[in-house]
Amino acid sequence: MNIVIVGTQWGDEGKGKIIDLLSEKVDYIVRYQGGSNAGHTVVTNSKVYVFHLIPSGILHKRKICCIGNGVVVDPQALIKEIQDLSSAGIYVNQRLKISSLAHAILPYHKILDQLRETKRTHKIGTTGRGIGPCYADKINRCGIRMVDLLNPAIFREKLKDNLKEKNEIFKKVYRHPGFNFSPIYQDYLNYGKFLSRYICNTAALLNKAIRDKKDILFEGAQGTFLDIDFGTYPFVTSSSATAGGACIGAGISPVKIDKVVGVVKAYTTRVGEGPFPTEFPPVFGKFMREKGSEFGATTGRPRRCGWFDSVMVREAILLNHILELAIMKLDVLDGLESLKICIAYKYKGRLFKELPQDLEALRKARPVYKEMPGWKGTTSKIRRYQDLPRNARAYLFRLQDILNTKISMISVGSSREDIIFI
Ligand code: GDP
Ligand code: IMO
Ligand code: MG
Repeated sequence: MNIVIVGTQWGDEGKGKIIDLLSEKVDYIVRYQGGSNAGHTVVTNSKVYVFHLIPSGILHKRKICCIGNGVVVDPQALIKEIQDLSSAGIYVNQRLKISSLAHAILPYHKILDQLRETKRTHKIGTTGRGIGPCYADKINRCGIRMVDLLNPAIFREKLKDNLKEKNEIFKKVYRHPGFNFSPIYQDYLNYGKFLSRYICNTAALLNKAIRDKKDILFEGAQGTFLDIDFGTYPFVTSSSATAGGACIGAGISPVKIDKVVGVVKAYTTRVGEGPFPTEFPPVFGKFMREKGSEFGATTGRPRRCGWFDSVMVREAILLNHILELAIMKLDVLDGLESLKICIAYKYKGRLFKELPQDLEALRKARPVYKEMPGWKGTTSKIRRYQDLPRNARAYLFRLQDILNTKISMISVGSSREDIIFI
């Protein structure tokens, strides 16, 4: 079976944990979009791992992990990840495959990302990892791909062309001195040398795997509302974070995807700027941030927190054709007096049961809540659905009902074993 795992909110839903859990049952795990803006956490008995580019299935020996053509690869960040894993006794060796068609993030992408933020009237709050500028170059047809790093003559020509244009922009628009050719050229040829053993035609590899009836897990990064088309544009990332991205970003036909599983937090969080209708007021927000340890896995920034927004998640279910949901971090809601679920928005006297496409409406929309009683005690040691407190079951039952989608996993803690399968 080929399954796509997608985030249904603004990222950080707990995709890493679900990918790690499901990896046991598949042969291949594939990242298909995004880059080192992602931070996917896996907690084992002994250690906390945060993956930025390497698929979260890597801890399972014998699984093949691919970085697809749709990913933008910061070679330096990737090498560090490989080396950190090897210091922890995890060797990627023959198990890591990097698409030769994936675009490389260069130093000028990262600096441009950061400089652009300083110039914007409405900041996006990017991770500063060069994601937007690298995807822009890809679409502009001036990007440098992983395969280019293996060919000194081609790389020289492409880098020269890029620097000629970009240095003018850096100097004239941003008052930045620009970049020298030689250090980048040398560094990136070295990165290419180091990574050459992993670089290959991953689309061919995956299509052969499908022919051989192997099982593939596609690991989405970010979330539906950070998607370049369907997210809260312009407060989004620059890739297709919805399920369709898996086909383009891995070179797989849509007819080969069997199922899409959505990962959803039992409440809502967002890092960076942009509208957030159900955001908590500051004092309660701070309380919940600390209760849920809601700090970015990539930048360490505090995540904004809010109530569960079923209007958004319903839209995500529709856009991705999600048939099953994994509900994450239920334990973080333990002990609250009452809980709220947003079931619609009010804007200019109108009731919206679907997500308005006008960002202004979303920014000013007032959530309509359904309130429910909370529960006492801790859920993190519970392993069977029927053992959950009655009000926790009522909350989950209500979510399942509003979303009209089956909940197949409930996560009650950060560790691998803190999970209830239904
Ligand atoms: P991802 O980007 O979707 O993979 O999610 P992140 O790793 O950025 O953020 C999820 C955070 O929540 C991580 O720190 C996880 O270890 C943690 N986490 C995942 N599931 C649970 C859970 O059920 N309960 C608690 N308390 N923490 C969880
Ligand atoms: P995972 O995969 C949460 C957010 C940034 C910013 C916006 C654009 O861990 O869920 P970018 O650097 O991509 O241009 O930033 O997107 N963002 C994420 N938020 N989780 C992520 O990834 C994110 N990746 C990007 O905070 O608001
Ligand atoms: Mg994350």
